[in-house]
Amino acid sequence: MRTFQVGAGGDLITSAERPVPSPSAGEVLVRVKASSLNARDLLIVAGRYSVDVPPGRVPLSDGAGVVEAVGEGVSRFRVGDRVMGTFHPTWLYGPFPEWGQLRGTHRDGWLTEYLALDEQSLVAVPDRLSFEEAATLPCAALTAWSAVHGVGPGDALLVQGSGGVSVFALQFAHLAGARVLATTSSDAKARRLSALGASDAVDYTSTPEWGARVRELTGGGADRVVEIGGAGTLSQSIDAVAHGGQIALVGNLAAGGGMDVSRFFRRAATLRSISVGSRSDFERMNKAIDQHRLRPVIDRVFPFQEAPEAFAHFEKGPRFGKVVITH
Ligand SMILES: NC(=O)c1ccc[n+]([C@@H]2O[C@H](COP(=O)([O-])OP(=O)(O)OC[C@H]3O[C@@H](n4cnc5c(N)ncnc54)[C@H](OP(=O)(O)O)[C@@H]3O)[C@@H](O)[C@H]2O)c1
Repeated sequence: MRTFQVGAGGDLITSAERPVPSPSAGEVLVRVKASSLNARDLLIVAGRYSVDVPPGRVPLSDGAGVVEAVGEGVSRFRVGDRVMGTFHPTWLYGPFPEWGQLRGTHRDGWLTEYLALDEQSLVAVPDRLSFEEAATLPCAALTAWSAVHGVGPGDALLVQGSGGVSVFALQFAHLAGARVLATTSSDAKARRLSALGASDAVDYTSTPEWGARVRELTGGGADRVVEIGGAGTLSQSIDAVAHGGQIALVGNLAAGGGMDVSRFFRRAATLRSISVGSRSDFERMNKAIDQHRLRPVIDRVFPFQEAPEAFAHFEKGPRFGKVVITH
């Protein structure tokens, strides 16, 4: 089978031939139909991730496919079932335990034709979704679902930018009946965010003090901020959050100077860290996606053989929502 792997000496990813794996007891063999990229994948292939990833590792934590064979004792799935991988393969339910052996870093990921996977690390694809749409869900959508959890009618939620996590967070918060505000970097993206339900979009390039603008627009601040910028945006998020509100700490995309702790105290706000979600959270999210006929926002789909171009597009953009590879 053809696979892509983390390159050595300057190549981000290279292609290789490997034997098709056979499923051990408790595993299923999945013929991969689609995979998708997240911000971490770019860091991984560029050797800039927080975990050392050896050359030869197959990248991508997210993918979807069809069960082609089952190992001994498998009971959750049958041949022909449509499945997606979970980001945390051993976090099934309850509070976050700790980082396990993640796909694309500690173990081979989805940028390949076949994968043998523990049946416990898979969930069913919602009937209405294509493989390409399903491949966008395991990391970005579930992270957004966790970050938005508890928000409802009467609340205001702020998302930052128009990347994978933020667009899903906008969609879920809108579904939940909340008012959604967004920051972004162009008028064209602002229009697309409004079309998805954002009441206001603030350009963070022309309005660097966007926290104050969000307070003004909401008459006191956002009850929830989905923080994808991290160190470089937290300070503005503290300005943007309402008294007693919550900043859901998701990412660290923006380099910068950290947060002013004294201002944070005065907000009486909570900073809650997010690590994607459990398998049971994933299944609950999928029910909501199915019930509300939510469609993931896909920026562009690349054919499998153009995986390096998909990484280049993910890095350079412009893009809006998820970048997908069809296998
Ligand atoms: N903790 C977790 O469980 C978890 C899970 C998934 C992802 N993450 C992290 O969350 C972050 C987002 O991931 P992603 O996959 O959604 O990323 P992504 O798709 O690469 O997001 C890119 C978008 O982020 C926006 N952005 C970048 N810098 C910004 C800034 N300074 N202010 C506002 N917006 C900014 C831009 O939006 P515009 O183009 O509209 O300006 C950009 O297009 C990453 O750091 C990722 O590692 C964490």
